[in-house]
Amino acid sequence: MTETHDEKLTGIRACVFDAYGTLFDFASAAAGCADVLGQKTGALTALWRDKQLQYTWLRTLQGNHADFWTVTRDALEYALDALDIGDRALTDRLMSLYLNLKAFPEVPQTLRRLKSAGLKTAILSNGTPQMLDAVVSNAGLGDLFDHVISVEEVGVFKTHPKVYQLAVDRLGAARQEMAFQSSNAWDAYAASAFGMRVVWCNRYGQRPERLPGKPDRQVRTLAELIPILGL
Ligand code: 2OP
Repeated sequence: MTETHDEKLTGIRACVFDAYGTLFDFASAAAGCADVLGQKTGALTALWRDKQLQYTWLRTLQGNHADFWTVTRDALEYALDALDIGDRALTDRLMSLYLNLKAFPEVPQTLRRLKSAGLKTAILSNGTPQMLDAVVSNAGLGDLFDHVISVEEVGVFKTHPKVYQLAVDRLGAARQEMAFQSSNAWDAYAASAFGMRVVWCNRYGQRPERLPGKPDRQVRTLAELIPILGL
């Protein structure tokens, strides 16, 4: 898929990050309830995430938007039902944990390095402004982003091009001056098809997609972004 390259990505003025799965570990929500979930913890994380994403794609395709908090809760209720987890008190507990997700370990240092090099940093996410403000501040990353951009401004979810255009409009940089980082292959490919430079942070060992676009680089952690940018 993406050959290992030595040459740097040049002319980058801004680094834009997907939130869930890229900066923040969505598995840390169910892990916080492992005392109740037991053997079902992993299955709940996987089904909750898959259904959450499916609902975003289906709602955008139908033109029937609801915000990511609603979709995330709907997906959680589906997953709890499908896995026969009857404890309804868990829903509120898991949703509040979704506002307190752990940042992946390399995130703070990587962001500090980018900012000290004079690059703009931003989040571009399906999350609502409230969800993103909470998860960013609860992870102690509040001062490390120049912009936190939610799809709620355009009322459609990723991978609609209007979402990636939001970053261009807000950051005042051209598409090819932006490095977009996501752990979600579908998101990485869409940003590439839109015209951004893309570093796919393939944390989950996903296989290459057969979709428009082609990520410029593939890495396992965001720390690898630093040498890719020649910093
Ligand atoms: C995002 O943060 C859902 O991970 C996706 O937009």
